[in-house]
Amino acid sequence: MTQAGGAAIEAAALSKTYGRGRGAVAALANVSLRVVPGEIYGLLGRNGAGKTTLVKILLDIVRPTRGAAFIRGVTSRSAAARRTVGYLPEDHRFPEYQTGLDALAFYAALSGAPAAGDPARLRGLLDLVNLADAADRRIRGYSKGMKQRLGLAQALVHDPEILLLDEPTDGVDPVGRARIRELLVDLRSRGKTILLNSHLLSEVERVCDRVGIMEGGALVREGTLDALTRVRRAYSIETAPALDDAQLGELAGVVRGAARAGSGIEVCVGEDRGIDAVVDHLRARGVGIRSLAEKKISLEEVFLNAIDDNERGAA
Ligand SMILES: Nc1ncnc2c1ncn2[C@@H]1O[C@H](COP(=O)(O)OP(=O)(O)O)[C@@H](O)[C@H]1O
Ligand SMILES: [Mg+2]
Repeated sequence: MTQAGGAAIEAAALSKTYGRGRGAVAALANVSLRVVPGEIYGLLGRNGAGKTTLVKILLDIVRPTRGAAFIRGVTSRSAAARRTVGYLPEDHRFPEYQTGLDALAFYAALSGAPAAGDPARLRGLLDLVNLADAADRRIRGYSKGMKQRLGLAQALVHDPEILLLDEPTDGVDPVGRARIRELLVDLRSRGKTILLNSHLLSEVERVCDRVGIMEGGALVREGTLDALTRVRRAYSIETAPALDDAQLGELAGVVRGAARAGSGIEVCVGEDRGIDAVVDHLRARGVGIRSLAEKKISLEEVFLNAIDDNERGAA
């Protein structure tokens, strides 16, 4: 089975229930998403939201109850689909007695890709993930961040076009996380497509082109960071001088909402052109406008709102 449309990764109406009867767990409910070539797509969600299940279905490690998944248009049920995919599993373990280079050579052999095991190439990969100096040291002495980076080298060992990374920065300290983020951006610039899972907002916020928020097995929000964090018809305005209470009250009468925020104000308008009326109103009263911008909220607020809405919808 193949699918048209040019997506690097596609989930089509995926549902997954583990077990049956009373013990059944609905892990995914009708999730559809597409990751386009060359983008970093971040799946954000609390523990148990269904992120790992989705990734495992993309790799045919878990079979969906309903729906289908495709890698570059090829059903994920076929081994051919996986050849172009690198995978960093959640909680992966390497044999501690091996050196980083040994472990990587082992995965290169497993991958079956002819050129993969060339020692110079493997050292190059370790260099890419900033482990060149540790290549001949035993993994036992690696920090969590080093192990995660070795995991990334493992995912890259057969030079895949697509990377599925399950919690790539989990348990890694801030410096290590920054290194991993730089690496992801570097990989994107080399044309790789990346789907990453994280329960860490800051990671997703800093590197992802698009974000999907999962909650209770469903994809409850999706979009670019900019679109997700922009509040429609809400604006932050800095004026000179600052509005006094009477002026603010008067303004509140002509818009849907107006309130003080920091050194300026925030207004909500009922229609797109409403902001022009606000500017006219202020200028007619001799108030100078020093800045005006659409109101943005943090991804954290978007995330918490999504969870609230979902819980209210379920109640
Ligand atoms: N093999 C399994 N058997 C039964 N339940 C599972 C299994 N794997 C995951 N689950 C359950 O499915 C839900 C989603 O889990 P998971 O996909 O691991 O979420 P996440 O990666 O977002 O933390 C959770 O309730 C989890 O307990
Ligand atoms: Mg998980």
